[in-house]
Amino acid sequence: LGSRSLTGRCVMVTAGPTREPVDPVRYLGNRSSGKTGFAIAAAARRAGARVILVAGPVNLATPPGVERVDVQTAEEMRYAVHAWVGACDLFVGTAAVADYRPAEPAAGKVKRDGEGRTLSLVPNPDILAEVAARPKPPLTMGFAAETGDVEANARAKLASKGIDLVVANEVGEGKGFDTDDNTVTVLWEGGRRRLGPAPKTELARELVALAAARLDGTLQGG
Ligand code: PMT
Repeated sequence: LGSRSLTGRCVMVTAGPTREPVDPVRYLGNRSSGKTGFAIAAAARRAGARVILVAGPVNLATPPGVERVDVQTAEEMRYAVHAWVGACDLFVGTAAVADYRPAEPAAGKVKRDGEGRTLSLVPNPDILAEVAARPKPPLTMGFAAETGDVEANARAKLASKGIDLVVANEVGEGKGFDTDDNTVTVLWEGGRRRLGPAPKTELARELVALAAARLDGTLQGG
């Protein structure tokens, strides 16, 4: 990693899960711990960038020098991202943003009556795709959490979301979510790089170096 390869740059990272309310005490969530996003935020800061970290509910300390915005729901995350991403050169979407939320959260705690229940869901906004579609978008690095056909699904996201780089990782059965290590394949137009298995802190350094190389136009193929 060039000593200060992101000096003068602004980097936004989304991290952690979102919580989608079912009623005042229940929510739909997922297993993201935020470790990946916080490691990338710390690595970008060490590389000299201004870092804005938009975090869902996680139990992690803010990396030194990083600006943190805490959110709960996908809609709150979307609002915070669009409020600040205009100042940034690079957006890294590691957050496990809920794709759906309950259509009508109940005003009061739902009482059990022994009967079955149905929860109707509506789609949440695709924050990464919206960032990539902004008038003057930052460089966009998305993550693809797949349980099968990892690279094929990830490469499809490059096109479908209009992003510049995608980090493919297999999830499920103790992989990806809330682990300290991970194995990822980074894909971009004309390139591919496999990283790991390694600690997420090491992967973060390498991902930041890749993004910095892409920002200054020196990223070759795989
Ligand atoms: O946080 P950790 O415990 O370290 O776990 C890391 C991780 C497994 C969460 C991370 O490596 C990861 O894979 N993050 C992406 C999880 C995810 O939602 O994957 P996806 O394939 O559903 O989303 C694709 C991309 O779109 C991601 O960049 C995601 O941030 C983004 N997205 C998804 C849905 C949505 N509504 N808005 C988005 O911005």
